[in-house]
Amino acid sequence: MDLVVVSNRVARAKANEPMTGGLAAALLPVVEKSGAIWIGSSGKVSDTSEKDSPLKIEQLGAGALAMLDLPAAHYGGYYEGFANSALWPALHSRPDLIRASQDDYTSYREVNAFMARALTRFKKPAAAFWIQDYHFLALGAELRKLGFKNPLGFFLHTPWPARAVIAGVPHHRELIEAMLSYDLIGFQTEDDVENFVRCLKMDFGLQLHDGVVMSRFGTTRIGAFPIGIDVEGFAAQARRAASHPDVSRLRMSLGGERLAIGVDRVDYSKGLVNRIAAFDRLFEIEPSFKREVSLLQIATPSRGTIEAYDDLQSELARQVTDVNGRHGEVDWIPIRYLNKGFSQSVLGGFYRAAQVGVVTPLQDGMNLVAKEYVAAQNPADPGVLVLSKFAGAANELDAALQVNPHDIEGMARTIATALSMPVQERRMRWESMMRKLRAGTIHQWFAGFVDTLIEAHAAQDLTAISGVPRIKPLRTADGAFLH
Ligand code: G6P
Repeated sequence: MDLVVVSNRVARAKANEPMTGGLAAALLPVVEKSGAIWIGSSGKVSDTSEKDSPLKIEQLGAGALAMLDLPAAHYGGYYEGFANSALWPALHSRPDLIRASQDDYTSYREVNAFMARALTRFKKPAAAFWIQDYHFLALGAELRKLGFKNPLGFFLHTPWPARAVIAGVPHHRELIEAMLSYDLIGFQTEDDVENFVRCLKMDFGLQLHDGVVMSRFGTTRIGAFPIGIDVEGFAAQARRAASHPDVSRLRMSLGGERLAIGVDRVDYSKGLVNRIAAFDRLFEIEPSFKREVSLLQIATPSRGTIEAYDDLQSELARQVTDVNGRHGEVDWIPIRYLNKGFSQSVLGGFYRAAQVGVVTPLQDGMNLVAKEYVAAQNPADPGVLVLSKFAGAANELDAALQVNPHDIEGMARTIATALSMPVQERRMRWESMMRKLRAGTIHQWFAGFVDTLIEAHAAQDLTAISGVPRIKPLRTADGAFLH
């Protein structure tokens, strides 16, 4: 069977290049290993039709990467508009930030239809298509319109919010209905599944039976497939990174100082303002940490043409300057704030050099930085993960120190606890988290989803013949997460 993976953003195979976001970093090793074809945006736009738009194809390990130019007339409305100014804020429970025009929605649908037409080049009877993320909610429906009978799966990397929040997105009902063209819809957590199933029930009167919903489009299996990382690969990379010049320079610059690290895109869902405020508070309540601890916050610029992101960037710059100005000393800066990206291999070395990893989003689908921080640690002397209870990763990483990112004082005290934790407790927590990570790697996630997609599609055919859904209960590779 051929597998075609589709996402808006794709990653190139260069280990020394910065990567934007969890999706691209997560998919790269599995595409390389599985031999799938990965199709996405080239990052450029053009006026040509999908037939004439040149496909740039590159080898990616055993797999391949194909990039195409998206339509110039619709790209802004699709990416900055509907995807990132209407869907993204809603999916992260920020209805106050939803901005959407009718034109943006039109562009979103146009780009979904364009991608569907482009995928006809990859249509083979035996191919399965796995669509990624909120940029392409309606792609499955467009493919069915074009006569695709192939297995079509969809995975959402973000949370799915409460019904009242998604209702703030114009045309949300149309989009949810369009999603029912997929054979399988995967979410990060059971909470996301529940929220989505509630939308189906309240808006369409549809019920889930044994993880399957039957609609006028056929049957759709729905389940939670928590995404993982390449645990051993990342750990090995982090060990090797010790010799990277950036990592050595970081270690040298610390002297005897200890380090906390945060790595995020500049995004309002990541809780960066609250995190900086928590460090501000930490130095107030525990002045002994001054000149002893600093935060390295890597804040990669993101979606900068969107007002909410631009505003956040300015707010963070002001806040960091203020905190550093008040607490800093001639020979010590409390917050080392960097507005740039680093490659995965360098980041692994930074994580290993840091005694505390702070991953405190207000909302997050999974957050792979949390998992990478854990995997990168030195088993003999591991650091402590301080993790928001609103990250999907909190379900598995219950041995992290979990925090409420809205409670600044609580976060400050938890960071102080992390900095004072004895090595035995650090090891115990780390080993427990590593067991969870090894039980749900990115390779298991990938295989579990694809196997379930094939089964869900096969059961769909049976349903079409008998009229009764006949899907046997399924389990993901690690056994636990499907209805
Ligand atoms: C999140 C989304 C991804 C996206 C990434 C980076 O992880 O789930 O789909 O690729 O952010 O965002 P960007 O807009 O730069 O692709």
